[in-house]
Amino acid sequence: MTSNPVPVLTLDGPSGAGKGTVGTRCADRLGWHYLDSGAIYRAVAWRALSDGIAPDDDEGLRRLCRTLHFQSVAKPGDVVDIYVNNRNVTSEVRGEEVAVHTSRIATRPVVRESLLKLQRHSRELPGLVADGRDMGTVVFTDATTKVFITASADVRAQRRYKQLKDKGLDGNLRALLEAIKERDARDSGRAVSPLKPAGDATVLDTSDMSIDEVVSAVLDLVNQHLHPIRPDRNK
Ligand code: DC
Repeated sequence: MTSNPVPVLTLDGPSGAGKGTVGTRCADRLGWHYLDSGAIYRAVAWRALSDGIAPDDDEGLRRLCRTLHFQSVAKPGDVVDIYVNNRNVTSEVRGEEVAVHTSRIATRPVVRESLLKLQRHSRELPGLVADGRDMGTVVFTDATTKVFITASADVRAQRRYKQLKDKGLDGNLRALLEAIKERDARDSGRAVSPLKPAGDATVLDTSDMSIDEVVSAVLDLVNQHLHPIRPDRNK
């Protein structure tokens, strides 16, 4: 059991599994803070790209992480704005170029190590929903509830395709599927903090579930862990 009084719900899983939407809705319902750790990695990658720091320049990356001022601001409608050194970079960090660079930067131990403190700092009362790849396995190993959210690569590509279409943008389903598979392989195959469920995580395959069903399943788990039913000693 955790000795830290601040409860944490960790949501880990591959990209496109719906963690962001589920995470912001759960945080909203619980009244807890929300940590989008992927956005921090994206912010580092975006700055590395704009400052011309190569993914294998460990000293440059260490310096960049040390001076990174990251802020995320939740807005109505599951939207989170990202600020890096007080500049709103939300649309920049969500782009495909940054996504590809992020999965490279995220393999660097110096980056993962440098970002640990920043992520753990978000653990504040009344609680934290932490979304990422290694929240339950590395960053918050003593979390109250750990959920690994996944869905088949096909379903995730289709969801991404629909998101793009809804925004009036073009997408190629086959290219999206290839990109998802490539990123999965890089995230799961890296030596440091690979994407995998924590031993004590509940794995939820959401391929055939609606967002509402996932949110309610996750909140049920949190409630069970926060208020465990104790055997009645008088019986
Ligand atoms: O969740 P996302 O798609 O915004 O993540 C972007 C990239 O960052 C993805 O390639 C995985 C990586 N990432 C990571 O390595 N560890 C985390 N805790 C969060 C994201």
